[in-house]
Amino acid sequence: MLASFLLVAFAALAANAHSVMQQVHIDGKAQGALKGIRVPKSNSPVTIAQLNGNDVICNAVRTPLPSDVLAVKGGSKVGLEWHRTIGKLSSDVISKSHRAPIQVYLAKVDSAKKADVSGLKWFKVAEQGYKASTDTWATDDLIKNKGIFEFTMPSCIEAGEYIMRTDLIALHNADKPSGAQLYIGCSQINVSGTSGSANPSTVSFPGAYKATDPGIKFNVYKDFSSYTIPGPQTFSCSGNSAGSNADAAATTTTKASTKTTTKASTKTKSTESATAKAQSFVKTDSKCRAKRGHA
Ligand SMILES: *[C@@H]1O[C@H](CO)[C@@H](O)[C@H](O)[C@H]1NC(C)=O
Repeated sequence: MLASFLLVAFAALAANAHSVMQQVHIDGKAQGALKGIRVPKSNSPVTIAQLNGNDVICNAVRTPLPSDVLAVKGGSKVGLEWHRTIGKLSSDVISKSHRAPIQVYLAKVDSAKKADVSGLKWFKVAEQGYKASTDTWATDDLIKNKGIFEFTMPSCIEAGEYIMRTDLIALHNADKPSGAQLYIGCSQINVSGTSGSANPSTVSFPGAYKATDPGIKFNVYKDFSSYTIPGPQTFSCSGNSAGSNADAAATTTTKASTKTTTKASTKTKSTESATAKAQSFVKTDSKCRAKRGHA
């Protein structure tokens, strides 16, 4: 009796820690809850054990697929809005303990309503990881921005239909066998008004991430001086991979060569913040770490 009660309580707690991308914004205009989005069957993450399976492409999604294709102009601001509970655009974004980078990829398709997403060729258009100068993760900004991650749609890519894939890789168990948790959301878009000459290099899902990547297997509880976002370089129309979509406020970004963000040289500050970090981890992450067996 008690055991089953605990199990239920445990499951409820675990579900509360998750998050799903549930609304697209274009130039500040909300497109409607779940509109144009391939909604996952649940808010649970794709696990490291599933890294080489097809769920790492667009997650396991509800059918029928949406009939909407969202119109996006090249150069416009696109916002991807995350919340814990599917269909509930509340102030609940994601647990602060789920420190994570956030990335956005595009794959050109003949029809954005195409059901089969296997074999697509993806290029990254946005990423944000760890900002050493402020000791914050993309998810810290996400919570501050009411769940919205914003980036600029490249203006030089081919016009037409794309699957837009975002992922948020929660690292709170990334040093454990259960591993990092991938929250993945795909949406259906139609890009227009671009110059259409760029030819970004692409990667495949599954394939772009390995369980041993330094940005996938990572210990957020130890002091660290840098974090390497997994996957390819971010495509940018200027040809500079550290474009405006990249981790903006980093003081010393050596993205072009090493794709890592180096911690500011103020050693004292870094030690202090490490201590503060360790303390806040004990407080905020005890529940999360206790249930690390949960996917
Ligand atoms: C995509 O946009 C182009 C240009 O506006 C339009 O002609 C086309 O019908 C659109 N396709 C879809 C599926 O919305």
